[in-house]
Amino acid sequence: MTEQDFSRLSRIAFDVSGIVLSDAKKELVYSRIARRVRALGLSRFSEYCEYLDREKEKELNEFINSITTNLTSFFRESHHFEFLAKEIITQWRKNPKEPIRIWSSACSTGPEPYSIAITLRKNIKVDNLDIRILATDLDSDVLKKAKSGEYPLKEIELLPRDYHNCFYKNEDGAKARIKDEYKGLIQFNRLNLLGPWPMKKKFDVIFCRNVVIYFNKDTQVELFNRLHDALKPNGYLMIGHSENLYGANHLFKPLGRTIYQKK
Ligand SMILES: C[S@@+](CC[C@H](N)C(=O)[O-])C[C@H]1O[C@@H](n2cnc3c(N)ncnc32)[C@H](O)[C@@H]1O
Repeated sequence: MTEQDFSRLSRIAFDVSGIVLSDAKKELVYSRIARRVRALGLSRFSEYCEYLDREKEKELNEFINSITTNLTSFFRESHHFEFLAKEIITQWRKNPKEPIRIWSSACSTGPEPYSIAITLRKNIKVDNLDIRILATDLDSDVLKKAKSGEYPLKEIELLPRDYHNCFYKNEDGAKARIKDEYKGLIQFNRLNLLGPWPMKKKFDVIFCRNVVIYFNKDTQVELFNRLHDALKPNGYLMIGHSENLYGANHLFKPLGRTIYQKK
């Protein structure tokens, strides 16, 4: 992969997804795109760049799916789910008629929205309420996995015992599937955080965790402004452990440990 190939691919990644592929990511891009080069029967990265230019409709999705980083886990950064259970849900209990909308805005393979659904069911009688979780991601492959709700059994067995009964064991014994009562609370859709957001209703809580780290500062500030707009008054924003609001700090009140409230 020449410098020119890498800069062509980085430019496309940035334009489409906002993801910045710095020089430090060269090895990673090399190994991920090499798979596409082989799968398409090509022999050079330059041929792949030309193919991507020529067949954008067909290949762009595959390219984007190849460059996203999808690391996630159930109850990752557990303090967010504790805050949801102890602080936010406690307020909702006082106002059971209000609709509740939660957005997991870079949901990857699904553990984040399922952790939200589990937290809701375990702490409030959701069947009497108008509660919906929207789970979106740019990467269509991870969304497919998220929708399936299937995870290696080993991953589920690592969770505290209390959560084991949220899953069915598959007959093959190797996988576990989230129960429908949790899945039923979630709507999965493909959505690019940089593109238009078709949702008309505002959200009570937005999880936007471990995704802005891949964006530059300008993209982050613009996104945090849009997330601010997408929240109801006093709505909550959860971000990742290594992220902060920088140029959008004035819009939110910090509540500690990467939890913010719309001002
Ligand atoms: C590291 S995962 C974070 C998953 C989850 N939020 C968590 O914290 O465990 C980052 C996700 O952001 C998604 N992503 C990257 N750029 C995006 C964009 N422009 N719009 C929507 N999702 C994006 C990736 O596909 C990936 O699944």
